[in-house]
Amino acid sequence: MVKLPRPARALNSKGRVLDPRALLAAGANKIDFERLEALAGRSLLEVGDLDLATIHELCKFAALLELTEIARHRPLAGKLIITAFFEASTRTRLSFESAAARLDARVLSVPDGKVTGVAKGESLADIGEMFNSYGDLVVMRHPRVSALDEIRTNLTRPLLNAGNGTGEHPTQALLDWYCLFKWRPELMDLGLAADRRLHLGIIGTPASMRAVRSFLLLALAQPHAVAKISLLSESARPLDDSLVAAVAASEVELEISSSGLDEVLPSLDAIYMNSIALLGGSYEELDQRFSLRGDSPFAAKAVVLHPLARKAELDVSLDDTEHNLYFAQAAGAVFLRQAVLISLLGAIDRVPAGVHYLAS
Ligand code: CP
Repeated sequence: MVKLPRPARALNSKGRVLDPRALLAAGANKIDFERLEALAGRSLLEVGDLDLATIHELCKFAALLELTEIARHRPLAGKLIITAFFEASTRTRLSFESAAARLDARVLSVPDGKVTGVAKGESLADIGEMFNSYGDLVVMRHPRVSALDEIRTNLTRPLLNAGNGTGEHPTQALLDWYCLFKWRPELMDLGLAADRRLHLGIIGTPASMRAVRSFLLLALAQPHAVAKISLLSESARPLDDSLVAAVAASEVELEISSSGLDEVLPSLDAIYMNSIALLGGSYEELDQRFSLRGDSPFAAKAVVLHPLARKAELDVSLDDTEHNLYFAQAAGAVFLRQAVLISLLGAIDRVPAGVHYLAS
């Protein structure tokens, strides 16, 4: 077996630090690059745009990139990426831009949509027409669910949805699961024994939190890895009709509760939480009753994921504990997004053979 180097440094300063090599080893150190080449020119609007086998290959490719000094090979040299953010972001925009810069792409950054013609009443359809000439791929965040359809009226370049209102946040879900696969690589095994499957806790309201929605949809698509989901939400209707349908179509058991976090917490292997929701054009905090602290009654090996930004629901007393997977989750975003950008921009063949060796 090829011996891969240790990561040069810890990418997150607090909490658990994950080693990508185990994920690659679980895939027999092979990556199906042909499957990733098939993504060239495609858009990624929702997690359903990718099948599970492709998601596994993207995560393995991300692990390889995390272990490789890829920058000097300049795989995206000559490519122009537009990051158009019509809604606030710390992690998503900057990790996409970091990913692109480290691959030698150029970035045209719109950190605040108000500086575009939108301030004068310009339509997203017209902006999409302009983007066709100005870049090779567009990463867009917008507070409206309908924004994807609006810009795609004219946009012909690949579009990466970086969050559309209460809709979806697909690359967030990919990096969430990339983190979980690094933590427990066996979760990629379609034949995983029933007693090894996760009992997942989700604290949040998927119907109004796009990251939680996308994470839940990917969890429901993996009955071989997830035995049960306990969903804790203050909302009387945490699932909308499309999510109810997704739950009904899944073999994963889902239990909804509006109380009793401390009763269910000791039985959970992993907890995904969020509290900030975009409702009616402004941010609101939901599910504040369910907060986690360093002294919460976790199972000994339980881990906590959070897309961040956080408020009081995720106390800083958790940061220095082994339950903290959320900083490793955020740190891994760069590599997962690099894998997505290289694939959608059709640049797999620019990853040099010396890096491809795992696939041989
Ligand atoms: N996880 C996430 O979407 O964070 P940002 O809002 O900072 O991009």
